[in-house]
Amino acid sequence: MTLRWMGFVENVGSVTTVHSAVSRAGHSVQWFTELNDMLKELSSAQGAVVFLKTSLAYDVYELCREMSLTYPYVAIILLVPAEELDLKKAMHTGAVDAIALPPQEQEVIQAVREAENSVRLKMARILTNTSRVQKEDGRVLTVCGTKGGVGKTTITVNLAVAFSKSNLKVAVLDLDLQFGDVAILFDSQPKRTIYEWIKEEYEYSRRNLDRYMIHHSSGVDILPAPLRPEFADVVTGEHVRIVIAKLRREYDLVLVDTPPFLVETGLVALDNSADILLITSVDLPTLKNSKLCIETLEALGMKDKIKVVLNRDTKVEGITQEMIENVLGMPIYSRIPSEGKVVVASVNKGIPFVLSHSRSAVAKSVFSFAAKLRANQGLVKKTSQKSMLSRVFSR
Ligand SMILES: Nc1ncnc2c1ncn2[C@@H]1O[C@H](COP(=O)(O)OP(=O)(O)OP(=O)(O)O)[C@@H](O)[C@H]1O
Ligand SMILES: [Mg+2]
Repeated sequence: MTLRWMGFVENVGSVTTVHSAVSRAGHSVQWFTELNDMLKELSSAQGAVVFLKTSLAYDVYELCREMSLTYPYVAIILLVPAEELDLKKAMHTGAVDAIALPPQEQEVIQAVREAENSVRLKMARILTNTSRVQKEDGRVLTVCGTKGGVGKTTITVNLAVAFSKSNLKVAVLDLDLQFGDVAILFDSQPKRTIYEWIKEEYEYSRRNLDRYMIHHSSGVDILPAPLRPEFADVVTGEHVRIVIAKLRREYDLVLVDTPPFLVETGLVALDNSADILLITSVDLPTLKNSKLCIETLEALGMKDKIKVVLNRDTKVEGITQEMIENVLGMPIYSRIPSEGKVVVASVNKGIPFVLSHSRSAVAKSVFSFAAKLRANQGLVKKTSQKSMLSRVFSR
């Protein structure tokens, strides 16, 4: 597949630095000063990376949104003066990246790489979906840890995006039913949640779930926790069992976030999971708690599914990996470093750090964690022509 490189600007002279940086990355951009001329070219292109520069004449974010909905094979990079740059808005409107003007060469090269990967993945998704039929159900991974604040939600959200970036169709089910904040970490304000699904569908023997999911621009779909803590009691283990079964049919991977205690709904998720990601950290109260959690899961016959994840991994005087593994009686499967600056910045922006700070140490560790899980579990893409295509086209 040959990618086309195009750009829409009012004045070609204003993007010479971008042009030469892209050339140095090995590509030649064809610039258009008339939008229609570019769109004509685009409609016959197999795959394309498009630069859109801000202008007083149009709203570049709105243009980006429309183009990403109309052209599924396109990755859009915005060119915006540094003082006007709104990365969050850019991502919401479907851009793969936004470069602050005047541009840094390294930034352009990085954006070019991201865009190339993104458009190739989109193509691969569409091609696989239309050519392969696979009946297998998706895999369920439940993230747990019986200590508050160990990083369950942070890891769930970023792992979900990392998997989605590697071309899997991913759903996140927020089972922290009272205080779930998965939607917030995706900067989404849901109107419908699992609670509305129960009230509007389940109780009328209808089961349509898609309407209740948030379709995030990262590719991850989210079934949020109820909007009010008192609605949590409505959700039962049976609801969770049905929701998970439905999600497994539609998605390659279902990631479930849970509260810091074991309740019936969470236990149903654990029971239906292929893997249990137990999040812990290098402090004694948490390790003790994790040990108890492992013992409980062992008593429930689920120990084999546990993978221990050491979050906020920092060197602590006198504590070695061997000591931690001895306390837990299990090996550590993955280690995620502590990187408060990046994590907090990402939470405040409402953009998972694997997107907003993809080159940070913490993001890299999540990518390797996802790759390890994927390699070990033989996670495969499933195909559901209707839903996948409609997803790509509805972005
Ligand atoms: N690797 C990390 N480095 C730095 N800060 C982190 C890291 N992981 C999580 N945090 C921070 O720790 C806090 C708790 O994280 P998070 O909400 O993900 O935990 P949780 O286990 O889901 O909590 P709860 O049990 O309350 O649901 C957050 O402020 C988050 O930003
Ligand atoms: Mg949480």
